[in-house]
Amino acid sequence: MGYRVVVAGATGNVGREMVNILADREFPADEIALLASSRSVGEQVEYGDSGKMLKVQNIEHFDPAGWDIALFAIGSEATKVYAPRFAAAGCTVIDNSSLYRMDPDVPLIVPEVNPEAIDGYRARNIIANPNCSTAQMVVALKPLHDAAKITRVVVSTYQSVSGAGKQGMDELFEQSRNIFVGDPAEPKKFTKQIAFNVIPHIDSFLEDGSTKEEWKMVVETKKILDPKIKVTATCVRVPVFVGHSEAINIEFENELSAEDAQKILREAPGIMLVDKREDGGYVTPIECVGEYATYVSRVRDDSTVDNGIALWCVSDNLRKGAALNAVQIAELLGRRHLQKGD
Ligand SMILES: NC(=O)c1ccc[n+]([C@@H]2O[C@H](COP(=O)([O-])OP(=O)(O)OC[C@H]3O[C@@H](n4cnc5c(N)ncnc54)[C@H](OP(=O)(O)O)[C@@H]3O)[C@@H](O)[C@H]2O)c1
Repeated sequence: MGYRVVVAGATGNVGREMVNILADREFPADEIALLASSRSVGEQVEYGDSGKMLKVQNIEHFDPAGWDIALFAIGSEATKVYAPRFAAAGCTVIDNSSLYRMDPDVPLIVPEVNPEAIDGYRARNIIANPNCSTAQMVVALKPLHDAAKITRVVVSTYQSVSGAGKQGMDELFEQSRNIFVGDPAEPKKFTKQIAFNVIPHIDSFLEDGSTKEEWKMVVETKKILDPKIKVTATCVRVPVFVGHSEAINIEFENELSAEDAQKILREAPGIMLVDKREDGGYVTPIECVGEYATYVSRVRDDSTVDNGIALWCVSDNLRKGAALNAVQIAELLGRRHLQKGD
C-alpha cells in the first residue's frame, strides 16, 4: 500500500516541480490530490511526463482526513490558515514557507545534513523546508564541517527571479522584452528594474540594516547544522530565471586544504564537484536547471585567514531549494516513521 499525497500550491513554481519530482522519483503514492486557490480550480497539471492529467481542486473545500502527507508551497499567509487544519487531521505537512522554520517544535530538515531531527515532527505534525539559499549552502558545508569544524561563514548570493514566484519570472521576461522594443520597464514585484540589473535587497529590511532573507540564512544554518557557526550573508537578486549561486568563504577551527576539501566534496551526498581550473571548468546557474545536485566549483585556499577556503556553489532553487528537498523529506518520513509503500 502506498501513500495518499497532497500537493498544495500545485499551480506555482515550486508546486509544479513537486509534482514532476514525485513522478520522476516514483514516489510510492496511491493517490495524489493537487490543490491551489479558487483562482485555479479546474486547471489541469500533468503528473511528470506520464500524460496523466490531474485536476486542481480548491484547498478551501478539501478534507485532509485520511491523507498521509501534504507538500505545501502556498506562501506563509495561506499556510497559517491551512497547515494547522491538515496537521490536526493527521496529514503530515511538509511546508516550504518560512512560517514554521524557526518554531522549536517544528523540525527544519535537509535530509543530507540533519535527517535525525525529523523524529521531532510529531509535536506539531509539521516539518519545515529551509529557505532556498540555506538549503544548497548547508549541503556543501556539512561534509566540510564534519572534517574540520566550521567557525565562520561569509556568503554572498546571486539569486534568480524564480525565487520570487511566478510573478518574479514574468517581471524579468516582460521588462527584458519591453526594454528591447523601447517600452517602459516599471518595477512591480521587485523594488527596482531587475532586467539588466542586480538588486541588493531580498525580503524586508530589519532594524540592524540586514534583510530578512539574510537573517534566514544565518538562523536556519544554525538550526540545521550547528548553532555555534557564525554566518554573515549578503543576498542579491540577479536577472537569472532559475538557479541560485553563492560565493562562500569558510573559516575552520582545524586545518583543511583546498585539495582535501575537493576530495571530501567529491564524495559528499547531494554534491557534484565540477572544478577544473580552466575556461568553463565550473558550473553556472543555466547548467543546473532541472538537476538534483548542488554543484560546487572554484574551491581554493583563502590565505587571508588561518584556516579558510573559498568556493562557488550553484543549485536549482526550485529543486534542492524547495521541491526536491520537500520530496526528500517525504521519503525520509516514509522510511523512518510511516513505512508504507515498501
Ligand atoms: N521559489 C523558490 O525558490 C522557493 C524556495 C523555497 C521556498 N519557497 C516557498 O514556496 C512557496 C511557493 O512559492 P512559489 O515560488 O511556488 O510561488 P508561486 O509560483 O507564486 O505559486 C504560489 C502557489 O500558491 C498558491 N496559493 C497562493 N495563495 C493561495 C491561497 N490563499 N490558497 C491556496 N493556494 C494559494 C497559488 O495558487 P493559485 O495559482 O491558485 O494562485 C500557487 O499555486 C512560498 O512559500 C515560497 O516562499 C519558494
